[in-house]
Amino acid sequence: MSAPRNIILGVTGSIAAYKAAELASLLTKQGAVVHTVMTADALRFITPLPFKTLTRQPVVTDLYAEDEGWKPTHIRLADEADLLLIAPATANCLAKLAHGLADDALTCIALALNPRAKILLAPAMNGKMWLHPATQANVATLQARGAEFIGPEAGMLSCGYEGVGRLWPVADVARRAAELTS
Ligand SMILES: Cc1cc2nc3c(=O)[nH]c(=O)nc-3n(C[C@H](O)[C@H](O)[C@H](O)COP(=O)(O)O)c2cc1C
Repeated sequence: MSAPRNIILGVTGSIAAYKAAELASLLTKQGAVVHTVMTADALRFITPLPFKTLTRQPVVTDLYAEDEGWKPTHIRLADEADLLLIAPATANCLAKLAHGLADDALTCIALALNPRAKILLAPAMNGKMWLHPATQANVATLQARGAEFIGPEAGMLSCGYEGVGRLWPVADVARRAAELTS
């Protein structure tokens, strides 16, 4: 039997953050060990409790809340990851990743990620945010570095507008995560 795959599930401050709990459950049922890392803004939308319970793993919400041992948690997670999956990924998060900012646990992990790990990004945002040239340039930068995007899809957005910006269905995101870690 092969070793379980380590997935870091980054959750950022989008209204779609609640859907990430279902995604965490699906990934865990697929046999992955899921380490959820939430940004400060994600905590405005959903608490760590569903993720901790569904994945049976501690949830990282604070860069400085270190577990036992000498190695910083974010470096340990970055070393051990097979996949960094950020769902939902905000426009802000994509900008930080594209420009190499490292001001929280998630972005530190992204920069310190071992070269074996794949990156899968599932954006969710207002359609104008998605189509903004700044966001599209950030997407192109990240794709050129090897990150894969899944979505967003078109439809009715929670901000009240129609457009491209909905989180891709989480069952499909989980399926792609499984393919990337098989
Ligand atoms: C109600 C509400 C919903 C939001 N939804 C989104 C969203 O879906 N996508 C997005 O990019 N930003 C969204 N934002 C803005 C982000 O929360 C904001 O850019 C934040 O700084 C993101 O931080 P993070 O990327 O560190 O999680 C929303 C803000 C509010 C108040």
